[in-house]
Amino acid sequence: MSRIVSVVGARPQFVKLAPIAQAARAAGIDHRIVHTGQHYDPLLSDVFFSDLGIPAPDVHLGIGSGTHGQQTGAMLAELDGVLADLEPDTVLVYGDTNSTLAATLSAVKQHMHVTHLEAGLRSFNRRMPEEHNRVLTDHAADLLLAPTHVAAEHLRDEGLAGRTVVVGDVMTDVLFATRDRVLREGAGLVPQWGLGAEGYYLATIHRADNTDNPTRLAEIVEALAAADAPVILLAHPRVAARAREAGIDLTRGALRARDPLAYPDLVRAALGARGIVTDSGGLQKEAFLLRVPCTTVRDETEWVETVDLGWNVLAHTGPQILAGLTRPRPTDVSATPYGDGRAAGRVIEAIELHL
Ligand code: UD1
Repeated sequence: MSRIVSVVGARPQFVKLAPIAQAARAAGIDHRIVHTGQHYDPLLSDVFFSDLGIPAPDVHLGIGSGTHGQQTGAMLAELDGVLADLEPDTVLVYGDTNSTLAATLSAVKQHMHVTHLEAGLRSFNRRMPEEHNRVLTDHAADLLLAPTHVAAEHLRDEGLAGRTVVVGDVMTDVLFATRDRVLREGAGLVPQWGLGAEGYYLATIHRADNTDNPTRLAEIVEALAAADAPVILLAHPRVAARAREAGIDLTRGALRARDPLAYPDLVRAALGARGIVTDSGGLQKEAFLLRVPCTTVRDETEWVETVDLGWNVLAHTGPQILAGLTRPRPTDVSATPYGDGRAAGRVIEAIELHL
């Protein structure tokens, strides 16, 4: 029986881990989970394990925050021994965080097989820490599981076609399952937020490029505060900390800062929103899958299908952000670029075949 060791550490990775853990269990695979501790606040970590039925990690490294070098290096030092003890047939890494890169480096240096889930995404923006992480991981890994055909084309362009399998997007699996669950349960979050009939926009901003320069953060906050309906900002600790340091108030005008939400609550809040404004990769795609118009506060996106199909616009300046929010609702599309919600089963099959 194969042994898969998943290494995760940050919020979006827990979401992707949920359907994988379920599919591994269904296939009778020996699946172990290592949590690096990159995210440690209960709202960014524990609630995902409990809400999405993910087994508790077998190993928790408790690394925490730091500069990129400190954080990645601390994980790397711990992972050497942990992975050696676990003797995996493959180390499964997710997405593009520092946890992804650390696990990949530790594994390849120990001649372990590495599988990269969500391989081939590219923003072509070399200032993004995630871009470094995903490019380095793709070139080091043995099996590249691409979520889309566009991602597979990027891998082919980089000479990696021989290691690539298109499996679809596992986030679609967990999103559809959660959407169906919250629709069955009914009741939205609006009463809790005390909002009127004009509805609301849902916002998340956490990328370093948008948060770490006070002038840039102020420009975004100014735009959101001027929106034509309340904007609920689910404030990641990074944006909350940077705003505090810069003396920027995240609750003013139309803008209201709230704590991040657990996954089912996020899906519920997204379903009820007039629009979403975000710099998160995952939320752009979730907006598309739920058919909620999205405005992405970035100059490029890895999920180009959301833009090509008309449900996502890229916005940089304040006026562009406001124009994005108030644009007419896009025409409905039936395209399914992110798969059918059954990607996790294909991930497990592809790994077993490759091993
Ligand atoms: C990380 C990922 C990013 C992903 C995001 C999802 C990298 C390079 N970035 O960014 O790709 O989209 O997770 O949320 O890996 N903090 C807390 N509590 C926590 C975790 C972080 O307060 O539980 C604060 C700390 O001040 C920390 C800052 O947030 O310094 C940034 O955390 P970090 O893990 O370095 O990066 P994210 O911005 O979360």
